[in-house]
Amino acid sequence: MSDNINTTDLKKQVEDLLASFRSSLSSVNNTDALQELRVKTVGKKGALTSLLKSLGATTPSERPAAGEMLNKLRDEIEEELTKKKAALIDAETQAAEATDQVDVTMPARARASGAFHPVAQTMHEIVAIMQGLGYSVALGPEKEEEHYNFDCLNIPSWHPARDMQDTFYFPDGTLLRTHTSPVQIRSMLKYGAPLRVVCPGKVYRRDNDTTHSPMFNQLEGLLLEQDVSFSVLKGSLRELMNGFFGRELKNRFRASYFPFTEPSMELDIECVECGGKNPDCRICKGTGWLEVCGMGMVHPFVVRAGGIDPDKYNGFAFGMGLDRMAMLKYGISDLRYLFNGNVSYFLSGRNA
Ligand code: DAH
Repeated sequence: MSDNINTTDLKKQVEDLLASFRSSLSSVNNTDALQELRVKTVGKKGALTSLLKSLGATTPSERPAAGEMLNKLRDEIEEELTKKKAALIDAETQAAEATDQVDVTMPARARASGAFHPVAQTMHEIVAIMQGLGYSVALGPEKEEEHYNFDCLNIPSWHPARDMQDTFYFPDGTLLRTHTSPVQIRSMLKYGAPLRVVCPGKVYRRDNDTTHSPMFNQLEGLLLEQDVSFSVLKGSLRELMNGFFGRELKNRFRASYFPFTEPSMELDIECVECGGKNPDCRICKGTGWLEVCGMGMVHPFVVRAGGIDPDKYNGFAFGMGLDRMAMLKYGISDLRYLFNGNVSYFLSGRNA
């Protein structure tokens, strides 16, 4: 830089600086390089800054013109730097968006979360339907007395169900209840009539094979009112089955026998798997029907055992296997899946 600078020299230097700045600017292709060029040009030790410093070396008469020229140069350079910066940021953002794109339509990674066991779910659903029909939940002990489990239910001492083969007895003569029916007696004694209860719970039998487990779940229903007819029982159970399976199902009531009801029936519903259309159906074995529930009009002997006058009140009872209902609804093929804690079976979809 000369000590004494005139405007012609300065003009040349301005043109040179601008030309070299523009040529550098045109080859800048990222914001880092742009920043470098900015420092080199307008930074403290930059080319433009040194040129501005040379203003001091101009004569007072030349200074205004020189000043104007340099101010214009600085404005031009600043403007071009700003424009380039905006263009580069734009391009860099677009490039980042293209490479770092997130596909929001991609399915989320499945996470194993806690859930009710299918049998518990089944129990809750059935209880909810029955509550809608005016029933309350009643529970009884799993360790039961022979009196409630058998005697009061009109199961005589010679009945095969009393056999040691079927029942787990404790040394003191009590037992693990073999069905939820004793809760009928306990409810009658506790609440009297009129009465509508459902009694879900665990029951135990000396049984263990592919279709039987020593512990399983039942749900009992009991209604005792005045002048109850069998048609109320049929209507209630139809409501329960259609509600539980979520559609209208064909059904049939078959005559049967239970010591605690008279008359007794069993309810069959159309096969929920094949609708009776598959002769090789593994669920209904080609019959088209599924046995789901035992029932009947409560035997006067049982009503009396419950402390209620059978001449004043009558009604019906029914009992069903909750495990079986869960298997039918959720298409679970083997009873043991319900008890062996194989969570992945349920996570991977049924019948894996
Ligand atoms: N207790 C019977 C069983 O374990 C099921 C049952 C049948 C219950 C008929 C009832 C009924 O209340 O009326 O197989």
